[in-house]
Amino acid sequence: MTDKPLEKPDSKIQKVINLCQRRGLVFSAAELYGSFGGFFDYGPLGVELKNNVKQSWWRRFVLQREDMLGLDGAVLTHPRIWKASGHVDAFNDPLVQCEKCKHRFRADHLIEQELNESVDGISEAKLNELLKAHKLACPDCKGTLTDARNFNLMFKTSVGATEDNHAYLRPETAQVIFANFKYLHQIGRKQLPFGIAQSGRSFRNEISPRNFVFRGREFEQMEIEFFVHPEKLDDCPEFDKIAKHKALFCTAAQQEGKRQNQENQAGKGKQSHENKENKKREGDEGRKKNNAIVYAHENDSNGQTMTFADAVKQKIIQTKWHAYWMAEALDWFASMGLTKLRLRQHRSDELSHYAKETWDVEYDYPEWGWKELAGFANRTDFDLKAHAKESGKDHAVFDESTKQKVVPHVIEPSFGLDRLIFTLLLDAHHEQKETKAGKENEEENSPNAAKGGKPAEGQKQKAAGPAEDAKIMLKLAPNIAPVPLAVFPLMKKDGLAEKAREIYAELKKHNPAVQYDESGSIGKRYARMDEVGTPLCVTIDHQTLQDGTVTLRERETGEQKRIKPGSIKV
Ligand code: GAP
Repeated sequence: MTDKPLEKPDSKIQKVINLCQRRGLVFSAAELYGSFGGFFDYGPLGVELKNNVKQSWWRRFVLQREDMLGLDGAVLTHPRIWKASGHVDAFNDPLVQCEKCKHRFRADHLIEQELNESVDGISEAKLNELLKAHKLACPDCKGTLTDARNFNLMFKTSVGATEDNHAYLRPETAQVIFANFKYLHQIGRKQLPFGIAQSGRSFRNEISPRNFVFRGREFEQMEIEFFVHPEKLDDCPEFDKIAKHKALFCTAAQQEGKRQNQENQAGKGKQSHENKENKKREGDEGRKKNNAIVYAHENDSNGQTMTFADAVKQKIIQTKWHAYWMAEALDWFASMGLTKLRLRQHRSDELSHYAKETWDVEYDYPEWGWKELAGFANRTDFDLKAHAKESGKDHAVFDESTKQKVVPHVIEPSFGLDRLIFTLLLDAHHEQKETKAGKENEEENSPNAAKGGKPAEGQKQKAAGPAEDAKIMLKLAPNIAPVPLAVFPLMKKDGLAEKAREIYAELKKHNPAVQYDESGSIGKRYARMDEVGTPLCVTIDHQTLQDGTVTLRERETGEQKRIKPGSIKV
């Protein structure tokens, strides 16, 4: 049940996984018993990072809005919810098994791995054709593989003393929202359009969980179901706010054209993988231009950069509410420093059974290339009608503005928290070159090489670099960093530790996540904090005892300045 090592040991992804495990951010579950594939535990720093991201999402998309209701529904769910939603019949992945060693694999992943080509969303028959045409064998023992067959991804269990009473661990939080729609509409006193948001655990019995927390068997989702009058999907009063924002769009037509070209080229040599192409890209990221946020690279061969206004006008995105929610999501990602993103439309052959139009926000991962970070589906009235049919209860609601009874249509922004955490860590990860100054600083055991060269209050000074063994820095946005600020006494003696604790207690009143550290050299303490993305460190030295100032050291620039602790905003 253990996860296999995924990447080359020196790959960036593997370095981030190592960091996560070494610093206890997130690591394989049940290591004590040889680990448990697809399940992960978050340690002290990981849980803070996760909570910060989750709270940022909740504040932005629930608390700060007037058109959103929150929900925290049950994880173990009634089987009829999943009968109605179509998950019992259609929530499957293609499974192949080795006839010799009996190992099981996800057929599409195996093909992608062996052929170095994306086969996302292609039919079971086509997968079997490819398996046969390329004579694909078991990657573990070269044994013969069975034909691909459907494997349902839901975890089934039984409830109460009888085994007949079965239930499912929810594979998405969305259906719990749909199943509560009628009731929440009634008690929430909201008119269309409005949304219901929920964050919480989901469970999928992935055939081959892989890529660390990117694809786990237990993970957290943050989902919104946004309910709109079926004829008012273009009536979005907030659209003007985002109309000039730009993004990189990769349309279904573009991908279908590309696939067609690939098919035409077949036989003329192996296709170069899309990821390799991605790496050739050049351009600026997430910069502001003409008051519109440019989220992605210009002139990208994998998409077209344009405004949301143009995307809607040209019917690249079909409706304004759909466009609005994607722009909002990109804006939220950018607030956490994440800009290396594109919007990729699902091709018709990969659309889920419930979706009319879907776009993924994709991140350009090192080694993996573009992969889904979040999904944005137009689910129409599919789910509400399905639950109306299964429950026998009318799901139409009265719309005040049109005086009509309608079953609303749904735009669904769906975010995966674990995947986002991993992406943020990956994006923030930087390796630092060791500097001579760093070594000197280590030897001096001083926060600012205090050889009579102390900066005056407010004055900036180029700081010494990291300690010899500290080469990693997480450039996490301050609003999500697990430790927003750390307080160090330069040394424990001379009353410095007592003074540092006093200042620490004061700062902790403003932000309880502030940490105190007095162990090891000052260089090592800076390095430990850089490695987990702490944006600011405060050091208390002998000058503090004289004039009450402390040294504030900034993570990325390494600059230090002397200031009064009362002026620190944390
Ligand atoms: N309600 C729609 C839905 O669940 P999805 O594309 O299957 O759509 C939405 O999932 C998001 O949940 C994904 O974009 C991803 O971030 C996250 N997610 C899905 N499966 C996951 C898995 N096995 N492990 C981690 N995150 C996952």
